[in-house]
Amino acid sequence: MSTTHEADEDIRNRDIKIYVNGDIVHRDAAKVSVYDSGFMLGDGIWEGMRLYDGVWAFFDEHMDRFFNSCKTISMDVGMDKAGIAQAMKDTAAANDMTGDVHCRLMLTRGIKDKPFQHPQLSTSGPTLVIIMEHSKPVDRLQSAGIRLATVPQVRGMPMAQDPKLNSHSKLNCIIACLQAEAAGADEGLMLDPQGFVNTTNACNFFIVRRGEVWTSTGDYCMNGVTRQKVIDLCRENGIPVFEKNFSLYETYGADEAFLTGTFGAQTPVAEIDGKPIGTGERPVTARIQALYKELIRDHVAAQS
Ligand SMILES: Cc1ncc(COP(=O)(O)O)c(C=O)c1O
Repeated sequence: MSTTHEADEDIRNRDIKIYVNGDIVHRDAAKVSVYDSGFMLGDGIWEGMRLYDGVWAFFDEHMDRFFNSCKTISMDVGMDKAGIAQAMKDTAAANDMTGDVHCRLMLTRGIKDKPFQHPQLSTSGPTLVIIMEHSKPVDRLQSAGIRLATVPQVRGMPMAQDPKLNSHSKLNCIIACLQAEAAGADEGLMLDPQGFVNTTNACNFFIVRRGEVWTSTGDYCMNGVTRQKVIDLCRENGIPVFEKNFSLYETYGADEAFLTGTFGAQTPVAEIDGKPIGTGERPVTARIQALYKELIRDHVAAQS
């Protein structure tokens, strides 16, 4: 099995320190209550971020999404963006981390008085946890590519549980992932409620056809930071890019396909439902990967 979040094993992660509500402690001592809203109900919001040479890539964009999500579910963050930045800085310093690091920042509605659903039962104030791990995506996926299977689980309507909410409850995505695994694939390709190709269970999805880059309209999928950066890079560099509806017909017949996400940047897709995508030559994906690396380099230099 491969996943887009596969990283080389790094034994330093056995002794990382984790931020829990202001304390930074060894991972074995990092604990939250069984009454925590996140554990009990999946009532929380998270962000995945990456550290390059001491700079958290696109921190402002991640924070915009994070604060917007917290506002949507009426969850008080308890600090501002500068407070989050400081907590992340302290956690990275405690771990002596400067690069090749992935951060999962999680905020829940906090500890409940009773094991029931009502948000008013969460009276402790929010729980903030920051996990940072040394992590480098495996190189193998870049040449081999990932295998997708189209799954029966679809993306939800925004008035059910808006897929733009990076909520602690990822059951919709997890069910899709299980279905993909049962089909012998690495990750699930999910359709929207109309049957158009939308996203995978953990990453945004792009195809390349006749030199054009296509991705879904943006409805029903995570408003991925990397997704937007790829769209912007295409626009700035004369690569035709379209956010549009398309079906499996155009997807199976694509010349290239790739996934985007903070962890893996752009991950090539080798096959979908057992059908190889294109010839295995991926010139447009390679160009976008090079442009993205350059963007990160410039961004890090500007923030340093
Ligand atoms: C379902 C899903 N799609 C896509 C992404 C990628 O988003 P980003 O590029 O902001 O990492 C994520 C990351 O959290 C996700 O959970």
